[in-house]
Amino acid sequence: MFDPATLNRAAHIIRTVSPSLPADAALRQELAANRNLTATARGAVSRVVFTYYRWLPWLTRSESLQRQLAEAIDLQGRFETQPGAVKPEALAALAVPAWLREEVELPAATLAQFQQEPTLWLRARPGTAETLAKELGNCEPATAMTMASALPPLRQACSAVAYLGPKDLFRTEAFQRGAFELQDLASQLVGHACAPEPGETWWDACAGEGGKTLHLADLMQNKGVIWASDRSARRLTQLKERFARARLFNFRTVPWEGGATPPTKTKFDGVLVDAPCSGVGTWQRNPHARWTTTPKDVAELAVVQARLLNHVTGSLKPGGRLIYAVCTLTRSETAAVVDAYTKDHPEMEPVPVFGAAPVPAGTSGLQVIWPHQHRSNGMAVAVWRRR
Ligand SMILES: C[S@@+](CC[C@H](N)C(=O)[O-])C[C@H]1O[C@@H](n2cnc3c(N)ncnc32)[C@H](O)[C@@H]1O
Repeated sequence: MFDPATLNRAAHIIRTVSPSLPADAALRQELAANRNLTATARGAVSRVVFTYYRWLPWLTRSESLQRQLAEAIDLQGRFETQPGAVKPEALAALAVPAWLREEVELPAATLAQFQQEPTLWLRARPGTAETLAKELGNCEPATAMTMASALPPLRQACSAVAYLGPKDLFRTEAFQRGAFELQDLASQLVGHACAPEPGETWWDACAGEGGKTLHLADLMQNKGVIWASDRSARRLTQLKERFARARLFNFRTVPWEGGATPPTKTKFDGVLVDAPCSGVGTWQRNPHARWTTTPKDVAELAVVQARLLNHVTGSLKPGGRLIYAVCTLTRSETAAVVDAYTKDHPEMEPVPVFGAAPVPAGTSGLQVIWPHQHRSNGMAVAVWRRR
């Protein structure tokens, strides 16, 4: 149960949410202004805020906010102890906005996953998942996943570890010395889809704060070079700080707005386009986005994604690989973008994202990672090789 201070703080945060201040940003702002809160208290406030947005359509909106928070917490508790208490038809009708049905029919298991608390995934440095899990405690390495749907990288050298404990991980000695990054499992699978070799030359075209760039750098054993570009200079500054903590140096940053002129004449062994997207795959972790994302966002982002893919293509060496990743599940941003690209670029051959089976002729080999498969974000990934 949550104490009154937690409920009051959550209610205060929800009242500050506006079109220019989404719930996750409002939460970050409040927690940053109250650094004295314990990790447990911070976790509790986050849980209440996100529980509210997860169950919003079920709540009695004429009641006080405090009353609605109690309703949402009660629904969350009942759903977690007996998932059958909420019928799949009710989840399909209420857990996501109606417009999404035009874009994707989400599996019932994904909808059920969306209504649960998300798993916190860490990426340990190569070869250290087990020792990190022991050091932090309350951990479950992803290699322990035994379900039939587990993708090949999860059965091999995967460094993903689920953290189930109460610690503020940013304050642990292990984090300070760069022993792990917070990174969702689906994002880690994108790194494995890239599978760069030590000594190669890569371009991470939408590198942001460098979550995937760092993974590529580790997979390359700090050898070779990764060009990390983004339109946001602020994000690239964060990237540099993260590389310094991880003691990795095989990168260089360069601003790039996604225009037709690439940031360098260098030709690459691999290019990753981790494109801006509507983020439907993150709706378990960030349920407020379900109620603010619009079909117009999806349509506009699909145009940006296609443009980014077109603009990086000329920078690949013969035999070089292009990896497209989006943390969304809409048809417009996944199959439509990927199929159109395959059709428009006969010089690019679709190749399997994971595993060895060839991509069937006339298809694009899109790999969708559904949230319920590995308790992760949803992600869509496609890979091509320059002929
Ligand atoms: C999904 S995020 C990248 C996350 C990052 N790769 C990671 O793993 O942490 C997409 C990024 O694309 C950047 N972006 C958006 N539009 C862009 C454009 N037209 N050209 C280049 N980057 C763009 C955003 O600033 C954002 O950092």
